[in-house]
Amino acid sequence: MGWLSGGVQSSRKVRSMDYESAYRTITRLAQEPNAAQVIVNYLHDHFPAYSWVGLYWVQGSDLVLGEWKGPEATEHTRIAIGTGVCGAAAASGRTEIVGDVSRDSRYLACFSSTKSEIVVPIFADGSVIGEIDIDGSVLNAFGAEDQRFLGRVAAVLAGVRTRTSAARAARR
Ligand code: SME
Repeated sequence: MGWLSGGVQSSRKVRSMDYESAYRTITRLAQEPNAAQVIVNYLHDHFPAYSWVGLYWVQGSDLVLGEWKGPEATEHTRIAIGTGVCGAAAASGRTEIVGDVSRDSRYLACFSSTKSEIVVPIFADGSVIGEIDIDGSVLNAFGAEDQRFLGRVAAVLAGVRTRTSAARAARR
């Protein structure tokens, strides 16, 4: 028991440090052109459990798929707020963690390989402007540490989005 729990603790520690260094990398990537796509790529490539990573952005009463990286494209490129796990997170402004998608009646299926999902809202000025949606290929792929980490990443992405929208508006 002592040996086992020691092993679990030390592997958790390495993971926490990994989230911290990943967060620092992401704050640096946020300065790059095309930062949202670069950050999505980094999340997908750096975390083995993050099988498919996408950003949905709010447009009126819908979520519209923006940057994504994964083995296949999703047919759900536009989701009404309130529909699916994605729409639920956008409606409530709360992170959704689904450990087993086959047991969640809200779930909109995209990939047959998906077993679990996390959706983290992105806020600007107190409103949901988008979200990070990540599919996992194993049950219970996401936990409290992913939620904390991705909440911080969402804040970085809010900054990126606000900056790029302002730049786009200035060019018009
Ligand atoms: N599963 C999501 C839809 C988006 S795909 O996972 C990329 C949902 O239930 O809202």
